[in-house]
Amino acid sequence: MANDQRLLGFVAAMTRLVQATSDEDALIAGATPLMRDLVTHDDWLPDAMAASHPQYYQQHLLYGDPLDRFSLVSFVWGPGQKTPVHDHTVWGIIGMLRGAENGQRFAPDAQGHWKPTGERATLQPGDLDIVSPARGDVHEVSNAIDDSVSISIHLYGGNIGRVARHAYVPGTSTVKTFVSGYSNLLAPNLWPRPAA
Ligand code: FE2
Repeated sequence: MANDQRLLGFVAAMTRLVQATSDEDALIAGATPLMRDLVTHDDWLPDAMAASHPQYYQQHLLYGDPLDRFSLVSFVWGPGQKTPVHDHTVWGIIGMLRGAENGQRFAPDAQGHWKPTGERATLQPGDLDIVSPARGDVHEVSNAIDDSVSISIHLYGGNIGRVARHAYVPGTSTVKTFVSGYSNLLAPNLWPRPAA
């Protein structure tokens, strides 16, 4: 497959998948090999979508389904950058493309305070991780490399930049609602929508 066809091929296959089913397990099962194939080839991501920022990790929207059934985002981690503890409220598949990232799951203790749970996992290029409300949805993600940029590709079962979701203050029961948006502001699915 030509390099410039790889992302198009992924989007076409995902579009067929979301047309065929809305079952979460079937979508994750169908999307997993597509994501694995996408991130085992580091020859397709446009440079503009690989751009880092000195202060903030970047969320470049690569494609948004016009019916909001899925979205694909490149996360670009500068040295030392990490997310807050957060959830997604929709299913997601994370695929490591370049560099490495750490993921730490969180769960509430008996007092409802959010604490790390399980071992911290480090993704290497080609590795995948899955999040969803049914499978575990709360984590903190960070660049695993101290002195260079890392990039992971995230597929979500919705328009993730427009989803109201939650950030958690570790060691407390404090939960805040947020909408992440995207770092790039000119993507087609950010165009104004007619009222439903
Ligand atoms: Fe996440």
